[in-house]
Amino acid sequence: MLRKHEIFCDLDTEALDQLCRYAKYTVLKRGATIFSKGDPGNSLYAVISGTVKISISSPDGRNAILNLVGPGETFGEISVLDGQTRSADATANTNCEIYVIDRRDFLPFMRTQPALSMKFVELLCTRLRRTSDQVEQVILQDLPGRLASALLGLAERRKLEPANQTIAITQQEISEMVGMTRESINKQLRAWASRGWVRLEHGAIVVLDGAPLRELAEAGSVANE
Ligand code: CMP
Repeated sequence: MLRKHEIFCDLDTEALDQLCRYAKYTVLKRGATIFSKGDPGNSLYAVISGTVKISISSPDGRNAILNLVGPGETFGEISVLDGQTRSADATANTNCEIYVIDRRDFLPFMRTQPALSMKFVELLCTRLRRTSDQVEQVILQDLPGRLASALLGLAERRKLEPANQTIAITQQEISEMVGMTRESINKQLRAWASRGWVRLEHGAIVVLDGAPLRELAEAGSVANE
């Protein structure tokens, strides 16, 4: 499973064997807390199946989803690498299979693997770019632009086939990703569904026509209803 994982697939056989001795296979039930913001960063996680939600919450109970991490992706690298505490909460969003690698094993291993270190640099650059895009969307884009960007970004990151753009996500989750109420998200999605741009399914949104959504995402604040 680790040989097929995006981050570890280029390791040579000996290095991969060593990593396998460190990695603990773990199965999680939907809703399980993996760690909370502020916890010590003792391990790195590699997702094999299922989805993990990376989120932050306010004292009054509001949630913001920063990312949904799927198969082939890793999380927990920030505190493992900088030695500070967890920067966000991680929760199993579905039943998941993951590998957990202890920081005390991982850091010395990473020092012997320059190509792997570069992969983590690239991963952190990708995260920073996404965070910059999210800040841009929150400050500069209106609701349709933000929602269109979020849907297209999810389809792209999950590497969905052009012929089947079914994004498994609830409207509550998408509202926590774009920072808008579930009611406004639902109203906007229904308006797009009536134009044939998307189809709403239970627990999923199917993108039927990406072109007008791309236009909205790029224009940001064009007329939208
Ligand atoms: P860590 O800080 O160890 O624990 C929380 C994890 O969530 C973090 O490592 C990253 O893997 C992930 N994470 C934190 N912030 C973001 C973000 N803005 N976008 C995507 N992933 C993040």
